[in-house]
Amino acid sequence: MTMTPMTHRLVLAICLCFLAFSEARVTFDASEVLDQSDINENNTAPFECPNGCRVYTPTSATLKIVDEEWTVVISFADLNARAIDNPLELEPGNYSVANDALGDPPEFILYVVQKGADNYNAKVYTSAQTISTNDRYITVLTDLPGMRLNGIGGDIKDYKPAVYAAGADSENKCKPVFQSRSFDNAQRTSVAILGPIASIDFGTDKYTHFVTFNYDYLTGPTNELGSSTVVVTPGYTGCGNDKVFTKEYDNGFKIDTEYKLSSDKEIALTFTADYSIAADTPPVEITINDDVIRLEDSGSTERDFVATEMWVFFDWTRAADDKKSNFAIQIDNLLKSGTGLGLAHIVVIAVFVVR
Ligand SMILES: *[C@@H]1O[C@H](CO)[C@@H](O)[C@H](O)[C@H]1NC(C)=O
Ligand SMILES: *[C@@H]1O[C@H](CO)[C@@H](O)[C@H](O)[C@H]1NC(C)=O
Repeated sequence: MTMTPMTHRLVLAICLCFLAFSEARVTFDASEVLDQSDINENNTAPFECPNGCRVYTPTSATLKIVDEEWTVVISFADLNARAIDNPLELEPGNYSVANDALGDPPEFILYVVQKGADNYNAKVYTSAQTISTNDRYITVLTDLPGMRLNGIGGDIKDYKPAVYAAGADSENKCKPVFQSRSFDNAQRTSVAILGPIASIDFGTDKYTHFVTFNYDYLTGPTNELGSSTVVVTPGYTGCGNDKVFTKEYDNGFKIDTEYKLSSDKEIALTFTADYSIAADTPPVEITINDDVIRLEDSGSTERDFVATEMWVFFDWTRAADDKKSNFAIQIDNLLKSGTGLGLAHIVVIAVFVVR
């Protein structure tokens, strides 16, 4: 990808100013993600673990988990410091996140996975790092506005890793935000998720594989030949319209992306989208060469394009009072012939803005 230094600066300056939001609890089939907006008038955020549960946090604020007798089970600092292979399992019961401090509760994320959930043993990483694992599934958490997963690698040539904007417990019920087409395609693609949780299915628990989890959620998506361009709105989970992290924006979410590809071989571009666009708000319009794809209402769509030159353009701003519209778009920028990228003939121009 060719991106001028100026474009980078523009992206960062705009994003840091406007990407401020708060999530509300999202309850999946066998897990929940709690945050500070779930703290009630009693300064607690209650949660239930009917058969026991595991709890994870990326936060080491002055919060604690208490049981129904108000006995402290663990502080967030101690929970956050636990070793990756030593998760805390709570006994069956009802618990609360309690805020001791005066004033507003600090920002936090707590991921509660009910015992017996799918992939219950998936490891949950709560800080940025390069992860090296033999496990098929991993989950990552952040209490920042987003995260990036890239650098998928390892000896897994026959597999097609997928990235989800939900925990590994929900992968069987949710749509991935990135379903790679090949291992090479996965290696070349980076995925930014504007939300607290993501997971990967590497496709196998054989061999060692890698992914880098970092907080660089502001840089634009990959869009060179061989990669996929993945754009996911804040809050999208892929688990249904009622399972969205709701955000509060001063100026809405804006995406502005444009790129061109050319090659002496045919490019096979595949566009897929899963979307839910609020009524009475502008549709999302994506232009690919001479075609305009319009996303309105809700649904999923897939379109294929073959040409030696591709121009992709879209520009969308979520209206200030629109808390609902969400989508995930994946555009596969692959050569039709599969191999041999002809790099000398590729021209890429990219602009990407999130705010
Ligand atoms: C707050 O505590 C009071 C007294 O225990 C209880 O009656 C009330 O239901 C609690 N409120 C919430 C939102 O849990
Ligand atoms: C937890 O609370 C629910 C209702 O809020 C109650 O039905 C249940 O019995 C409680 N569980 C335990 C283990 O106390």
